[in-house]
Amino acid sequence: MSTRPVEIAPSILSADFLRLGEVRRIHVDVMDGHFVPNLSMGPLVVAALRPLAERAGAVLEVHLMIAEPDRYLDVFSHAGATAMTVHVEACPHLHRTVGAIRGLAAQPGVAINPATPVAALEEILPDVDVALVMSVDPGFGGQAFIPGTIGKVARLRAELVRRGLEHVEIEVDGGVEPENIRPLADAGMTIAVAGTSVFDPRAPVAENVRALRAACGVRART
Ligand code: DX5
Ligand code: ZN
Repeated sequence: MSTRPVEIAPSILSADFLRLGEVRRIHVDVMDGHFVPNLSMGPLVVAALRPLAERAGAVLEVHLMIAEPDRYLDVFSHAGATAMTVHVEACPHLHRTVGAIRGLAAQPGVAINPATPVAALEEILPDVDVALVMSVDPGFGGQAFIPGTIGKVARLRAELVRRGLEHVEIEVDGGVEPENIRPLADAGMTIAVAGTSVFDPRAPVAENVRALRAACGVRART
């Protein structure tokens, strides 16, 4: 069982920007209507969030659910992204793409969809800061969590430990809520992306984040 600290990263897809509050990582979901069946937001939103992220000392992560992400790395870096996560399924030259992100002084992350096996990350793990395991098929917030993700996270964490790559963060994205965040943390997740459960209008954002942290147990990063 993992005892690693867990970061809560609000996903901006479901956000009321004004309610963002103090967080340490902001997750911006960029969608192009090709790699995923939805259109969302681009560099202008990242630029608008940059002052808030800088004031909070937060990582400003773009989750690029787009085809051919290499075309947009510079523009998102210029907008202020300090972490860029690309999908293995969209990058035929992944070492080159990860190297380009590193060259822009941003944290490189690679993401896999629910049906993509952990083995697809095998060759790239030594080069990245974050491995993102999708727990829903990407494209929309508010979807149902895929329970098999917990075992997948455990297998990925075991692979990282076996290879001496414990520094690589495991980020989980999609349907994360107080009911499943603890088993995900126990399996080795260290960054929880949450949209619906953070921006649930029945309570303030800070309270929803606290509920997620409390569900994580003592290891939640504050
Ligand atoms: C889905 C996005 C997720 C999603 C998370 O394609 O990558 O970040 O917005 O939102 P919830 O927590 O509502 O599933
Ligand atoms: Zn996302």
